[in-house]
Amino acid sequence: MGLDASCEEAFCKLLVQRTGIVLQNHQLSNLRDTVRKGCERFAFRDAVQYLHALQQSHDLTPPLEYLIAGVTVGESYFFRDSDQMDLLRNQLLPEMIAAKRASGNLSLRIWSAGCSQGQEIYSVAILLRELIPDIDKWHIHLMGTDINSEVVAKAVRGCYSEWSFRSTSVHLLDRWFTRKGHEYEIHPQLKRMVRFGYLNLTVDVYPSILSETNALDIILCRNVFIYLDQQAVQRSMAQYAHCLVDGGVVILGASDPIHYQHTNLELVQNSRTGYFRKVSFFTALLPVYTKTIPGIYSEKLCQLVDVPVKSSPPRSADKTLKSYEDKRKVDGEMGGLVQLINDANWHDALVQVDRILLEGTESSDLWQMKAKVLANIGSLELALQACERSLKLNTVNKTTYFLMGLVLAELDKLPEAAEAFRKTLYLDHAFLEAHYEMGMLKVRAKDMSGAFKCLENSLRLAKRGNPEFKLHNAAGMTYGRFAQVLEKEMEMLRGGEGVKL
Ligand SMILES: C[S@@+](CC[C@H](N)C(=O)[O-])C[C@H]1O[C@@H](n2cnc3c(N)ncnc32)[C@H](O)[C@@H]1O
Repeated sequence: MGLDASCEEAFCKLLVQRTGIVLQNHQLSNLRDTVRKGCERFAFRDAVQYLHALQQSHDLTPPLEYLIAGVTVGESYFFRDSDQMDLLRNQLLPEMIAAKRASGNLSLRIWSAGCSQGQEIYSVAILLRELIPDIDKWHIHLMGTDINSEVVAKAVRGCYSEWSFRSTSVHLLDRWFTRKGHEYEIHPQLKRMVRFGYLNLTVDVYPSILSETNALDIILCRNVFIYLDQQAVQRSMAQYAHCLVDGGVVILGASDPIHYQHTNLELVQNSRTGYFRKVSFFTALLPVYTKTIPGIYSEKLCQLVDVPVKSSPPRSADKTLKSYEDKRKVDGEMGGLVQLINDANWHDALVQVDRILLEGTESSDLWQMKAKVLANIGSLELALQACERSLKLNTVNKTTYFLMGLVLAELDKLPEAAEAFRKTLYLDHAFLEAHYEMGMLKVRAKDMSGAFKCLENSLRLAKRGNPEFKLHNAAGMTYGRFAQVLEKEMEMLRGGEGVKL
């Protein structure tokens, strides 16, 4: 079966649209091979029929997945790029760990975007185990995501051939892996530290509390942009800036293109390697704050974000409004706030929400928005307080219970998180994101039959919704996309060793 030039070009175009992946000339024979095998596997008459099937559906169908798995380059190994690993081991991680200790916030959140079989994020888990003697007291959130679900299933399994250890010292291999036939299995202690999921950097939404891509300290996205088109790279970098806490860093691969223009991310380079650091909120915005609301902000983040609201008995937002003009002004400000939150512009959103609160207007939903913003910049305890305030103003605010559950789960307060999700579901049994999160809590507790029940509930509800409509609590994800990703995740969970039903 042949693949003529125009059909080949159409496959390449489709791949760029759906994944951002640009195939180079030397990869075209691999594309042809994948298309040929895909035709056999899915019983397409020829490449044209395969192409039409892909063009007609925007879903992540098995034929599209097969194509993606065939053309992505999943090459990875432990402790790849010694300069970057030294940077993490000797500088970035020790500095972050010391700063967190000094502030009393014992948490670290790291995302490997384009994680392949997980070697990169497991290498970080090993570094953390070696660098933090009291690690059990910390909340360590390590996550790996990839567009190729085959490699993610392998990451969940955690077994590797000898070739994956070509840059690993014998000491680390002996300490953290157990030989099983021809493979080495990662230590269960490390496996438990990392979560994996499906995420397409080009079309999926991040940051999102739901995919846990918010309030990150480090994003590793090494050797991924080299395969993507410029537009996809720019989008990802802009989104990464929103995913990071102030001072957080993005590390790209040594061969990845680095010509971005993003005001919030500055390139820091030494003679051997480099990374992007998110410019501090204070350096960038303090002048704006002091100008708009003079005299109330100190240099401490906690004071900045937790502006005290005039004490008043709980009452509805409408009653606090003095006049029709006031209401119109607040409506306008609320519209602006919603837009800032939709754009994941957390810092401006925080300024805006505090401005509205300072004007004396408060409502359950406003505090819920503040909680969402705080959660996204990593101020989890303050986010929790904002949720509590929201619930005081409206004891049946199901979305606040849901948000509270997410924050509690991030704080590793799992029974309390389960209780919050239960309350959400008590108020609205069709709240599909709460079924999903309850399922994820059960995955963490290794209650896999309970987890699958919740995930199946969530999937059933997602399939019932209009696939084009956006979900309320999944940062722009549609019902259709949510269902696809969830199906993928369930498949990966079923495939991963130790998490079988
Ligand atoms: C060469 S591997 C890099 C693995 C690891 N980061 C490292 O440096 O060792 C590139 C990975 O990027 C993934 N990838 C490519 N396009 C992607 C996209 N649009 N979204 C998410 N992952 C993608 C591929 O599936 C592949 O696993």
